[in-house]
Amino acid sequence: MKKLIELITCEVEAAFEAAGYDKSLGRVTVSNRPDLCEFQCNGAMAGAKQYKVKPIDIANAVAENLTDSQVLSEVNAVMPGFLNLKIKNEFLADYLNKMSSTDKFGQEMPEQGQKVIVDYGGPNVAKPLHVGHLRSAVIGESVKRIEKFFNNDVIGDIHMGDWGLQMGLIIYELSLRKPELPYFDDNFEGEYPKEAPFTISELEEIYPTASKKSKEDEVFKAAAMEATKKLQNGVRGYRALWNHILNVSVTDLKKNYNRLHVNFEQWNGESTVHNLIPGMVDMMKATGLAYLSDGALVVDVKEESDTKEMPPCMILKSDGASLYNTTDLATLMMRRDEEDPKHIIYVVDKRQGLYFEQVFRCARKTGVVKDDCELTFLGFGTVNGKDGKPYKTRDGGVMRLESLLEEIYQGMLSKIRENTSLSDEEACDIAEKVALAAVKYGDLSNQASKDYIFDMEKFSSFEGDTGPYILYTIVRIKSILKKYEEQGNSVSDIDITSCEEPSWKALGLNLTGMHAALESAFSEIAPHKICAYIYDLANAFNRFYHENKILIEEDENKKRSWIATLKLTRDILEQCIELLGFEAPERM
Ligand code: ARG
Repeated sequence: MKKLIELITCEVEAAFEAAGYDKSLGRVTVSNRPDLCEFQCNGAMAGAKQYKVKPIDIANAVAENLTDSQVLSEVNAVMPGFLNLKIKNEFLADYLNKMSSTDKFGQEMPEQGQKVIVDYGGPNVAKPLHVGHLRSAVIGESVKRIEKFFNNDVIGDIHMGDWGLQMGLIIYELSLRKPELPYFDDNFEGEYPKEAPFTISELEEIYPTASKKSKEDEVFKAAAMEATKKLQNGVRGYRALWNHILNVSVTDLKKNYNRLHVNFEQWNGESTVHNLIPGMVDMMKATGLAYLSDGALVVDVKEESDTKEMPPCMILKSDGASLYNTTDLATLMMRRDEEDPKHIIYVVDKRQGLYFEQVFRCARKTGVVKDDCELTFLGFGTVNGKDGKPYKTRDGGVMRLESLLEEIYQGMLSKIRENTSLSDEEACDIAEKVALAAVKYGDLSNQASKDYIFDMEKFSSFEGDTGPYILYTIVRIKSILKKYEEQGNSVSDIDITSCEEPSWKALGLNLTGMHAALESAFSEIAPHKICAYIYDLANAFNRFYHENKILIEEDENKKRSWIATLKLTRDILEQCIELLGFEAPERM
């Protein structure tokens, strides 16, 4: 359905036209003086220049034509030529009913969805997730849900780092620690054990140890590079070991992402496209776009309009090994051939911006993406501690995502236990939901590209612009609706009818703002727009709640209309948090 503001604009445009002026002058916006009016139109000001008439004369003529409007209750032409508008409460009530009874609250959307891939998560196998990975997971999941809401056919791909030197480092370190394992015996022809020769915690210790050694010891590094190459060339024992590393890691990753309510349709990694690389390289050589430079194979991606340095995109190192770029390009090619997406969105640390610019340009130039496929780099900022430096544990180490979630959860659990008589099971369930909302909203309410300060206390607060505040508001509405039912009423099949309370109207107008908020979250790929919207909506509801005694209202018609308005508020809030990737408990 049309947005409320579009309907009002239609009315005002017609009034301009009837007064003999260009209808495009009738554009209406939400008022920036809510104390004076709800909507405004400044078209008379622009019209004055065009028609050489005083703006107030135009405004008066337009206002005259709106006196019997079915939509507007008040039209005031004020100096020097503004039109201040208020809409009829009956019209608002009807509009809200239509929102309630229409699929997706009447949100307008493209009829034909398109294939979209969101590349997010991007964990590195055998390395624990840290707060940096939180952003990619949380933002990517929300972006994916928003895309889906707008009818697109979306695939989320985790794109794991599972193929480079990090794998060789682990394998080589293991060969030193457990040389007796059959994986290192070149003459072994039997079946390799099903059980992995390490646990996830061992793996997470092996990697940093090996990584440190390689930085200090050239010989170690060379051996690890050799192991990487043997793995990539398909040496049987190395592949088997790599499979163990992958399995153990993925099991652990799934546990972490599940807790975050983050789900991937595809669990591809850099390794997935390994076999596609030779063909891609041949193609790039054949077209003459790829050439040797100091032994490495590169593609120029500089453009004349560049103001900053734009190095060529490296396809193969001088030793013939593939790089991060190579697997990203081959992945684009695979997606082109298997999914034919119209849009790919990468949710990655913004420090990789230049890298992706190179990859995108190279991909376009060499045709590994089709011309009709849009590529978007959604770069996110750093998670900082209160000191403004990258977030660390108390003793200065890297904060593991697991520990972070657990800490917030425990804090929330004790808060919830303090003042309730809930069963243990329910308290845990609530704490989990509220903790997730705290973390996700704390992240998503910031524009993705900005750095933000991870402030556990602030994010967990039940007041202010936080996830728990939004959940608390939803729970409050749910509890009113439940009590209403306990009074012997039904909450289904009730309509919103016009009410005169200003706080009711303010809430109603806020509800109509959903269309614009979701539309811009979608078109700008900006989940924070949804956060800003629901924060305003929650405030409007709470104002209404404090000004009116809903359950003891004696006028049954009014009470019913209020309850119906509450229901719509709850439904819209729940829809919005679903798009952000969390949910509300029944009580808290
Ligand atoms: N694994 C990478 C990292 O930790 C992120 C992957 C991002 N996605 C991609 N298609 N390159 O930096």
